[in-house]
Amino acid sequence: MTAPLIDPFQRPISYLRVSVTDRCDFRCVYCMSENMTFLPKKELLTLEELDRMCSTFVDLGVQKLRITGGEPLVRRDIMTFFRAMTRHLESGALKELTLTTNGSQLERFADDLFAAGVRRVNISLDTLDEQKFADITRWGRLPQVLRGIDAAQKAGLRVKINTVALKDFNEDELITLAEWCHSRDMDLTWIEVMPMGDIGNEDRLGQYWKLSELRQTLGQHYTLTDLPENSGGPARYVRLEETGQKIGFITPLTHNFCESCNRVRLTCTGELFMCLGQEDNADLRSALRNHPGSNAALEDAIRAAIRLKPKGHDFDYSRQSVDGRVSRHMSHTGG
Ligand code: GTP
Ligand code: 5AD
Ligand code: SF4
Repeated sequence: MTAPLIDPFQRPISYLRVSVTDRCDFRCVYCMSENMTFLPKKELLTLEELDRMCSTFVDLGVQKLRITGGEPLVRRDIMTFFRAMTRHLESGALKELTLTTNGSQLERFADDLFAAGVRRVNISLDTLDEQKFADITRWGRLPQVLRGIDAAQKAGLRVKINTVALKDFNEDELITLAEWCHSRDMDLTWIEVMPMGDIGNEDRLGQYWKLSELRQTLGQHYTLTDLPENSGGPARYVRLEETGQKIGFITPLTHNFCESCNRVRLTCTGELFMCLGQEDNADLRSALRNHPGSNAALEDAIRAAIRLKPKGHDFDYSRQSVDGRVSRHMSHTGG
């Protein structure tokens, strides 16, 4: 029996988020600058290395794997990796294999994902207005994503929509988005914008729309009931009594959920980030590449990294300056 991964604050680590590429076919204004420089391909873990890395985490007790990016589905041949992970679902070691995507490639991949054992996807969508969608994603087009969502649901995948709350941008779509998600039986989570990465023309405070305000407005249209459930993730949920639907809020800046954090993040170059909001990371790639025949060194490196997991993040807008910001992009650590 291998000992499970437990961090210094007695939090069991059972959830790994893996960014398989830093590249993306969109350029969302809060996420990337238009002329992003991406990592050279040789820096990336190969699909075989990703398999070995994830399988080692599964051996150490990780039960949930979320594939992210950038946009994970633009990584060449990524379905080979998903299909490789199916064996851990079949053995029962892995309870869930899932992904976070912008939806642009789902029309092509939804059926294959389902066949590989994926049952839920999180899809990012900030507006239902075609022009606004093109403005916020710069390179994305709404109809393509809507076709992706259709394909996902048709394939049998449960869909959760992630919407970044942006002042003067989608404030007016609060109700429309709730109704749209309800009509399609999709969950909806609002995310506060986080200070991550240089995005050019920075105006984080201008973008910041507090979820407590959003919640208040929602409360003028619906009767809200707080739900006690806490999936171990950062979201808190309310139920809209009139429709029965559930709406999530991810408020890293106004609410501290770090005490129940169960996750770590692997980047596409093999660095392990122990917290989304901190710079501390461990290089797992050398442990992997320098020891091709055995995973012992990699296991040791993972355990050593988990012993360094910090208590929480330090994002803070309350002093009207963006404190506690991190220099890497969300696409680097995969959100
Ligand atoms: P589950 O973990 O399955 O509940 O999904 P999720 O909602 O966490 O995953 P998703 O990829 O949809 O993440 C949505 C957003 O939540 C991320 O992009 C981040 O913005 C935020 N988020 C996820 N995990 C963390 C975390 O550990 N800390 C902080 N501050 N934000 C997080
Ligand atoms: N702040 C908050 N959310 C962000 N995302 C990307 N960058 C940021 C940021 N700076 C969101 C995407 C997607 C999820 C993976 O992360 O919109 O929903
Ligand atoms: Fe791509 Fe997601 Fe970043 Fe938008 S938020 S540019 S879809 S990685």
